[in-house]
Amino acid sequence: MREIRSMLNAVGQSVPRKDGIGKATGQARYADDLRFPGMLHGRTIRSTIPCGRLAAVRLGFDPAGFTVVDHRDIPGRNVVTLIADDQPCLVEREIRHVAEPVLLLAHENREALLGASVALEEEPAEPVFDPERSPTAFKTILIEKGDLAAGFAEADHVVEGTYCTGHQEHVYIEPQAVIAVPEDGGMTVYGSIQCPFYAHRALAVILGDAVARVRVIQTETGGGFGGKEEYPSGIAAHAALLALKSDRPVKLIYDRVEDMLATTKRHPAIVRHRTGLTRDGRLVAMDIEVILDGGAYQTLSAVVLSRGSIHAAGPYRCDNIRIAARAMFTNTPPNGAFRGFGAPQTQFGVEVHMERIAEALGLDPVRLRERNLLRPGDTTATGQRVGQDCAALEVLRTAVRRSGFRRKRKAYAGTGRGIGLAMYWHGSGFTGSGELKLASRATIELTATGVRVLTSSTELGQGTRTMHAQIVADALGVPYEQVEVAMPDTGLVPDSGPTVASRTCMVVGRILQRAAEEIRAKLGDATPAEYFRRHGPLAVTGQYEQPEWIRWDEIDYRGDAYAAYAWGCDVVEVELDRDTWEVRPVRVTVVNEIGKAIHPALARGQVEGGTVQGLGYALLERVVMRNGAMANAQLTNYIIPTTLDTPKLDVVLLEHPYDGGPFGAKGLGELPIDGPAPAVVNAIRQLGIDVRGIPAVPEAIREAACASP
Ligand code: MOS
Repeated sequence: MREIRSMLNAVGQSVPRKDGIGKATGQARYADDLRFPGMLHGRTIRSTIPCGRLAAVRLGFDPAGFTVVDHRDIPGRNVVTLIADDQPCLVEREIRHVAEPVLLLAHENREALLGASVALEEEPAEPVFDPERSPTAFKTILIEKGDLAAGFAEADHVVEGTYCTGHQEHVYIEPQAVIAVPEDGGMTVYGSIQCPFYAHRALAVILGDAVARVRVIQTETGGGFGGKEEYPSGIAAHAALLALKSDRPVKLIYDRVEDMLATTKRHPAIVRHRTGLTRDGRLVAMDIEVILDGGAYQTLSAVVLSRGSIHAAGPYRCDNIRIAARAMFTNTPPNGAFRGFGAPQTQFGVEVHMERIAEALGLDPVRLRERNLLRPGDTTATGQRVGQDCAALEVLRTAVRRSGFRRKRKAYAGTGRGIGLAMYWHGSGFTGSGELKLASRATIELTATGVRVLTSSTELGQGTRTMHAQIVADALGVPYEQVEVAMPDTGLVPDSGPTVASRTCMVVGRILQRAAEEIRAKLGDATPAEYFRRHGPLAVTGQYEQPEWIRWDEIDYRGDAYAAYAWGCDVVEVELDRDTWEVRPVRVTVVNEIGKAIHPALARGQVEGGTVQGLGYALLERVVMRNGAMANAQLTNYIIPTTLDTPKLDVVLLEHPYDGGPFGAKGLGELPIDGPAPAVVNAIRQLGIDVRGIPAVPEAIREAACASP
């Protein structure tokens, strides 16, 4: 029995994905596939000015057959609770951005609903759009290491630069969608939701004593990328308020335009560097300023700023660093969680800056990075000593060799082709003591046919169910097929924390591995099914244990920011069309070190998807803001890469196991979006075009080319 068990091996194999058949055959049910008896459709009436006061609301329709909800119908507190509790669920008086929810309507007939006209009387005030001129900071962070002045005193060269990144829209395939169903004095919300317990907590605050219990169930979800992390809490509340008032199920689904106009985006950023170097290219002082545009409410800006700041010096060793960061209020729809969470913005800055340093000092860009990359035992900006799994140097060398970087760099000089590279790193899991505070839990229970996994980790297409089942199968010694994974339902599963921050494999997977080992010890020689027949039900709930060595000072931002880091290097080749000024990526080499690829095909899928999303961020995806509103809120002129825009991708996964992760795994979800943008811009630089901002759309490239010497 034991021998057979030890031969079972799901981890490291690209087993059939748990959600594969359902999605391929159309059996999988998304929010819009669900129908409930008596169900109404919901609609949101929104502000049209970026700043001011709501004076009056006038209904231009016969209200018979309609349910109408405004802020006075909120039985609990009028707030979408998160970090700062500054965002109302529905506008009372003050308007802070265009598309802010004011009034909710529901009707059983969608045409009647969409035909209903509502006039808002709004009194505009002077908006703030420039984060640098904004009088209000949501959050400031200062990271200090060593002695900056002494570092600059030691420097032979000082290089300065400013780098800017724009908004980015998530463009999950399935727009925001929830259904609220009143049942037995309680409220159940089904939806396309990344973090069911976030929505659960927000609903409890808004609904107060009006409902006996709240339950949130994730429906099959067509992508999230952070866009369904915090934002669905407000939509769930809107549907629930309509359901409460009408006592009918209410479906609230955004179309693409509404989704793009109203929901969160990636924070635009301005990153300034002033860097001291010795003659031979050693970093001796890094002075970095980071400014994020937070939009009109805090959402997760403080945490996005935190991750962005910690990654802002890149994967480099330097004894003297200052990182001063702030997230600012502006009168645009709030920016929020987006894959990478501040790190793509700040790493764009540092990697384009490193390329300019190489140029200024006449150094080879690979040599400059080799000289300064973190090695095991070195300390990061927060003073964290990186471990033996620090693979920065190997990742760089592998990417350089594999892509033929040096040879091509010479060959392309003076042609319409360029090649550039970027190094990056990404911390796995919540920052600092975050995981300790979350105290995430996960359960495994025996069934008549095997085991069932109960977590609040959501499948967003990235492979949660499959990867968790593989970990449990091998830790328990049962075939992968015998592991079932329950849909996240707050009435059924424990709170495993949110499905964010590249934590679902490393952190929640680790809890499951431990719980499975505990069950395995209890089973003895019996299979789960035999044990279940003989002894009845058995369930084990594990809780995350943060590694003991982690020390983190949240005030001074000193210490062990993340339990583990994953490492990456991208090499991008681009071609410039001198007539249209379009830059096309033609070949990309990605080397990612991730501890262990639990499911190599899914891991590769994450890397390919993240890379292409990063290429879109670099070259195509421009959010045009006009008077605080997205002017191109449709996919005809907010352009994302299609298959035809996708270059040849060569993905290499390296594995330096982290002993605190399941089978050595670290986080992977966000890592691949950090590299493409700086690598693209560094490739454009080889064409003699000095681009320092993204998106590098043709107009921007033309302008930079005309300005470049
Ligand atoms: Mo996220 S951006 O879903 O950590």
